Amino acid sequence: MLFDIRRYKPGDLAGLIALFRDTVRRINRRDYSHQQVMAWAPDEIDAQQWTRRFDNKAVWVADLNGMPVGFVDVARDGQIDMLYVHADHQGSGVASRLLRTVEASAAKRGLLRLFTEASITARPFFEHRGFRVIATQRVVRWAQEFVNYRMDKRLGDGAGTSEAVAARESTGPGFGEPGDKLRSRA
Ligand SMILES: CC(C)(COP(=O)(O)OP(=O)(O)OC[C@H]1O[C@@H](n2cnc3c(N)ncnc32)[C@H](O)[C@@H]1OP(=O)(O)O)[C@@H](O)C(=O)NCCC(=O)NCCS
Repeated sequence: MLFDIRRYKPGDLAGLIALFRDTVRRINRRDYSHQQVMAWAPDEIDAQQWTRRFDNKAVWVADLNGMPVGFVDVARDGQIDMLYVHADHQGSGVASRLLRTVEASAAKRGLLRLFTEASITARPFFEHRGFRVIATQRVVRWAQEFVNYRMDKRLGDGAGTSEAVAARESTGPGFGEPGDKLRSRA
């Protein structure tokens, strides 16, 4: 499959929201209940909130003939917030190329570590790409509780263990939505 990786532009927003909703409902549904995925990816998604979320982040889109087939966003500190691939284009290397783009950009900026809160669905992908699980946690949202995994990957020889770095950080939003309440249980 021939697709390009390019920077996000504002005209992508509606397409990325639709991709996100569809992927959560069709792909993450394998690992989460109907109630959970409907809370995670509801009919009404606040586009302005997504625009604000993308502020100050690097966002890349995998583009297949003008159609988005995946996207990733990463904050300056190395947190990958969202990584979603179109439900019809799973397993085609889209996420791998998006992640390689993130890693190349992080290396250029001298970042030592990438970290994320991976869904049950995405955990094997991240492990396959060199991330490791720091903690299993439960995220409460819209009266639903989700299991996800704090994971990281070191990019250089920076001082301090992953755990030490993680302990100094407040936990990020995860699942692509600000304001979740988090409880670590690992
Ligand atoms: C996780 C996700 C992003 C992976 O995207 P993808 O484009 O299908 O991944 P790729 O095709 O690049 O797969 C990359 C590698 O991971 C491996 N992989 C992917 N899923 C795997 C799984 N469930 N178990 C084991 N290996 C897996 C593949 O074998 C592949 O390895 P290879 O390149 O050596 O053959 C995609 O499944 C997705 O959109 N999931 C739902 C959204 C989600 O949960 N995002 C995270 C939110 S927290």
